[in-house]
Amino acid sequence: MGQQENIYHHSFSVTKELRQALHGHKSYILWFTGLSGSGKSTIANMVEGRLHKKGISTYILDGDNLRKGLNEDLGFSSEDREENIRRIGEVAKIFVDSGIVVLATFISPYASDRDDVRKKVHEGEFLEIYVKCPLEACEKRDPKGLYKKARIGEVTHFTGISAPYEEPVNPEIIIETSQYSIEECVLQIIDFLKDNEHLGIDN
Ligand code: ADX
Repeated sequence: MGQQENIYHHSFSVTKELRQALHGHKSYILWFTGLSGSGKSTIANMVEGRLHKKGISTYILDGDNLRKGLNEDLGFSSEDREENIRRIGEVAKIFVDSGIVVLATFISPYASDRDDVRKKVHEGEFLEIYVKCPLEACEKRDPKGLYKKARIGEVTHFTGISAPYEEPVNPEIIIETSQYSIEECVLQIIDFLKDNEHLGIDN
C-alpha cells in the first residue's frame, strides 16, 4: 500500500444522491452468479430490457465481454478469478456512484470474492442473484461447447468440472433456471425489485 501514501481522495460537488435524483431511481448492483451455462447472461439481458422500458438507466458487465478488454490479461486460476472479480467490483461501484443500475454476470465461483464486492458498497446496493442450475443441466446445454472440451482436458480449471463453485449462502434471490421458464425467472427478479422499492417512483 506504500504507493498510495501520496494519493488523496477528492470529493466532488455532484454526489451519488444528486445523480440518483436525476435518474429518478436508486442505483445498485444486480450480481448474477452461477455455473457457465446456467443462464446468467440470458436472464440479465431480459431483466435489463424490462428495466430499460421502465425508464431505468442500466448497464451490463459480462464475464465473456470484459475478459476481451479490461481483463484480457487474466486467466482462470483462483488468483486471476479473484482479480477479475475485484476489478469488476470496483467498476460496478463506480456505476453505483454514477446513479446507474449495473447488472454483473460472472461465474464468480468464490464466496469470499463476492462478499468483498458486497463490502465495497452500502447495504442494499448489492443484490446477489444465484442463478441455480444443476451441473448436469448446464453440461447438457453446453452452449459454447466448453463442458465437452473440459471433459477431455482441452480446457483446464473449468468451473464445476476441474475447478470449484461455492454456492451463495444467503443470496437475496435464487432463481432455478432448470425448473422455471426464463420468463418466470425474469418476473421473479422484477417482483423482488418492486417489493423492495428498487424501481423508482414511477414503477
Ligand atoms: S469468473 O470465474 O472469473 O467469474 P467469468 O464469468 O469472468 O469467470 O468468465 C466465465 C466465462 O469464460 C465462461 O462463460 C466461459 O465462456 C469462459 N471460460 C473459458 N475458460 C473457462 C474456465 N476454465 N472456467 C470457466 N469459464 C471459462
